[in-house]
Amino acid sequence: MKELNESELFEISLDHLKDIDVFPFHLYVFNPNKKSYNLYLEANTPLTDQKLTFIQYILQRKGKVAISNGQKQTFLSHMNYEDKDIPSLTCPQLGSSEVKAEAKIVIDFDFEDEFVSADKENDYSRLISQMKTEVSGFSQKMSHTISLARYLIENLCDEDNFTNRVVCLSYFLAKEIELKDTASLGDIIVSSYFYHIGFTQLDLKHCSTPSLTMGERMGHENKKHLGLSQHLIRKSGVDISSRAKKIVNEHHERVDGNGYPNHKSKYNIEPLALVLGAASHLIEFSSGLIDGNKQRILPLIKIYEKGERKPGLETEFGEHIIENLVNFVKKEIKTEAA
Ligand SMILES: [Fe+2]
Repeated sequence: MKELNESELFEISLDHLKDIDVFPFHLYVFNPNKKSYNLYLEANTPLTDQKLTFIQYILQRKGKVAISNGQKQTFLSHMNYEDKDIPSLTCPQLGSSEVKAEAKIVIDFDFEDEFVSADKENDYSRLISQMKTEVSGFSQKMSHTISLARYLIENLCDEDNFTNRVVCLSYFLAKEIELKDTASLGDIIVSSYFYHIGFTQLDLKHCSTPSLTMGERMGHENKKHLGLSQHLIRKSGVDISSRAKKIVNEHHERVDGNGYPNHKSKYNIEPLALVLGAASHLIEFSSGLIDGNKQRILPLIKIYEKGERKPGLETEFGEHIIENLVNFVKKEIKTEAA
């Protein structure tokens, strides 16, 4: 595999690849374990979902994506960028609005504290407001899905309701597991607004009956919401990324292979689908839609922390997501133990 030194490349983010699948330039990835850059995707080779998932995996573990300096002009002209659009080609202080927004998040907002407070007070207003502020800074030039995410947030994210809680927890959980490039956040926002649109085609009782009290027939019927959501998205003609569609389709897949519709397991599942699966499950549980009892999320996460079980409480979202959920409440757990 061809290797290059760090000085021979410039770093890009996944955002910079937009929704395009084939490029006239090579993609290199930095492997933090080997501390070297290797050729990962040759020019004119499709960036498949599987390859994209691997790059996300590398990025979550302090890896990087880069282009060789020799192909800089090919990259800039094909993707319609200038040097100033790529932070690694410019002075970091002069980066894009996304870079500035990221700095603001780190300095001004502690998600862990805010989430504990939101759960205790049963009020997600501040979290929802923070998400809206951040997403309002997304560029509208990068992809249709990112523009749509921004549009949905600006027009639907004005109140603390069930849907906005699912979107909000999915959004921040994606960031916590380092899937925080704008393309990933755009995909998780759009998919978490659309993931249950299929329920509009089922009897209303499916939206209010706790899943543990559903009989076999109703439970079977309930699973049809996946295919119906997929169908409505396709028929509506709404232009969203293939990954956003995949997140919708896979949000009930679980890493142990016991999910549905395709019993996928571990790394075969789109990571953001597990994010949406975990976030929506916890919001549904807290809203009484699993066992009929409205309850706070923090005690549910403490069950994960202790490795215990509770009827209806799903756990198979993958080690990385469970670890990050437990991190949400680690301060509170330490305080209680003291
Ligand atoms: Fe669902």
